[in-house]
Amino acid sequence: MVDKGVAKPAFERGPAKPSVERGPAKPAGVARESRPTPGPLGPRIVQERIGVLLETPGWDDYQLLDSGEGAKLERYGALTVVRPEPQAMVPRRLSADRWTEAGAAFTGDVEEEGPGRWRTAAGIGETWEMAVLGVPFVCRLTAFRHVGVFPEQIAHWSFMAERLRAMAAGGERPRLLNLFGYTGIASLVAAAAGAEVTHVDASKKAIAWGRENQALAGLEAAPIRWIVDDAVAFAEREVRRGRLYDGILLDPPRFGRGPDGEVWSLEADLPHLVDLMRQVLAPGPSFLILTAYAIRASFLSIHELAADLLGHRSGVLTSGELVLLETGATGRPGRRLSTSLYTRFEGAQE
Ligand SMILES: C[S@@+](CC[C@H](N)C(=O)[O-])C[C@H]1O[C@@H](n2cnc3c(N)ncnc32)[C@H](O)[C@@H]1O
Repeated sequence: MVDKGVAKPAFERGPAKPSVERGPAKPAGVARESRPTPGPLGPRIVQERIGVLLETPGWDDYQLLDSGEGAKLERYGALTVVRPEPQAMVPRRLSADRWTEAGAAFTGDVEEEGPGRWRTAAGIGETWEMAVLGVPFVCRLTAFRHVGVFPEQIAHWSFMAERLRAMAAGGERPRLLNLFGYTGIASLVAAAAGAEVTHVDASKKAIAWGRENQALAGLEAAPIRWIVDDAVAFAEREVRRGRLYDGILLDPPRFGRGPDGEVWSLEADLPHLVDLMRQVLAPGPSFLILTAYAIRASFLSIHELAADLLGHRSGVLTSGELVLLETGATGRPGRRLSTSLYTRFEGAQE
């Protein structure tokens, strides 16, 4: 039953089960040189929209059915899944039977890695398929309790696809950079919208999963460069090469590792990375979307970072939280579950 293809992404999105609070331990590895970022690069002229919740009620293939008591019950395609969710402090609304009937539940306590960390109902395999925004992809029960897609990201992906389609309609293929791209769903949505995509991830297994998704989506001929690299090292080279992108997606983990052990720590390394992104973001109506999970910070931290580095450009800077809307008890959008913080810059035509 062990699937050798189970991806072990080089990232962490908070502990799978409650543990003693020790503060973030910086993983051992190759430390990065710290690089100061410039202060504000001019008067702040960007229009700021603060505290905007981007809410997702789900779609045909995804529903947040219920949450509560430290867990959430979700449907990914045909499979219902129970996973830990520290933010779910509310009482559960659906019956205990609905929870116990789930096809897979993350237990996290059986084996170090592999599907043993999941309890599955008879006949449930480790992989299955679903789709988002018309792009099919493979879901997989991973040792890190994730299944290969973060559904709340659909809010960013719809925005991105709309912008890219509008740019592509102008005649030239827009260029998208997807750093920390994971299983490549955003890269495929972007390619389907007409973009030329550069997808970077430190994990060979995540890249292999992305290519598997590309084949499933029938997008083999789409212009996607799949690159196994450290996000910061790659970005530094792109700045030196003078490359420009019309859209940038950044979805960094709190801690991660580059392929050569380079340590990624969001709090320490994000300012330098956003500064690099400022230098590769094309002028005019380009966009940058940054999402941050499992950090002890307000969205104002990443908003102000982006505002310092991009606020001298005209456009709109929107920041807030990505939210899932629960739909299981009533079939209508109900309680909100916050998943992450984001900031999004959209440049104006200059
Ligand atoms: C949480 S996932 C991103 C999710 C994805 N963007 C999405 O929304 O579906 C984080 C990814 O960062 C990658 N990663 C971790 N450290 C990295 C580094 N230093 N350079 C590049 N990628 C890294 C991991 O392999 C993992 O695939």
